[in-house]
Amino acid sequence: MDLSTTYLGFKLPHPFIPGASPVVNDLGAVRALEDAGAPMLVMPSLFEEQIVAESRATQHAHEQGADSFAEATSYLPGADDYRVGTDEYLENIRRIKAAVRIPVVASLNGVSPGGWTDYARLMEQAGADALELNLYEVAMDPNESAAQVEDRLVATVKAVRSAVKVPMAVKLSPYFTAFANLAKRLEDTGANGLVVFNRFFQPDVDVENQEVRRTYPSHRSEVLLRLHWLAVLSAQRKLSLAATGGVHSEVEAVKAIMCGAHAVQVVSRIIKSGPGAIRELRLRLADWLAAHEYESLNQMRGSLNLSRCPDPKLYERGNYIQILQSWDLAAKETF
Ligand SMILES: Cc1cc2nc3c(=O)[nH]c(=O)nc-3n(C[C@H](O)[C@H](O)[C@H](O)COP(=O)(O)O)c2cc1C
Repeated sequence: MDLSTTYLGFKLPHPFIPGASPVVNDLGAVRALEDAGAPMLVMPSLFEEQIVAESRATQHAHEQGADSFAEATSYLPGADDYRVGTDEYLENIRRIKAAVRIPVVASLNGVSPGGWTDYARLMEQAGADALELNLYEVAMDPNESAAQVEDRLVATVKAVRSAVKVPMAVKLSPYFTAFANLAKRLEDTGANGLVVFNRFFQPDVDVENQEVRRTYPSHRSEVLLRLHWLAVLSAQRKLSLAATGGVHSEVEAVKAIMCGAHAVQVVSRIIKSGPGAIRELRLRLADWLAAHEYESLNQMRGSLNLSRCPDPKLYERGNYIQILQSWDLAAKETF
């Protein structure tokens, strides 16, 4: 079965890419993922705060001398608060590139244009084949409007774009008022792909211990939100699309591809089942396509997107009206 796909300009033998997570930082795991057939790897993010804190600390050390350094910078988030330092991150790119033959995507997390964007160039120089710009933030400032948040993010993408030549995907959260417009602006700014969607850790409240907890791994129902926007974006944009969030089996992958995804990133499933999950997903996807008489993955891609699905209203507001009108029947069938 021909499962090949093209993502960010790379021809890949199949669509299952290990997504950004600590798994793709460990050399042993990275080799195991390649052995299991991973066609590309996305490293965990290097964070804007981390780069800024390190460069402030270095500047301070120069200004104050080594003796006062530790005390003077103690109010800053130190490099130790993060998983890896910036030099270590660049070194990891080199080590991973030396260990595998598949394309390696480095990930940068940032939300404001600034000096830190030079790190994109350092990642490229260290050997990254592409970049994933992870625009992860929770916009909680009541004085910043939606338009200001979006302008800032577009300016960030522009700054990173001007720093590198390698392909660049942008990973976003779904919480934008006019997502289709933002996607268009990002494509116009030079993004080669969109990764939908970053998954906030969705704090849950533990009522017994009365504390806030982070929720992970993901649940497969989370793919629904991705499907909706993949279906819309694949009908409107030319750039590459990757799904991330809630893909635990070949069924979620089939859905994402029918809605227009070129690639499907997987994290929770790998953490749960190990690198072999990639091999299993690929085999199961091939079986699924054969059983449903497809000749290739490309034949299936986008078959249920906004412009090709038999009833596009299902992606639009009409869906809601239909539910209101037929809820009784729906209730009987669904519950
Ligand atoms: C432990 C862990 C660490 C992660 N670190 C990053 C990261 O550094 N950068 C990033 O863009 N996404 C990160 N993610 C998010 C994943 O890349 C992915 O988008 C999310 O887990 C949803 O996919 P899944 O349902 O396959 O887990 C992380 C996820 C997990 C579980």
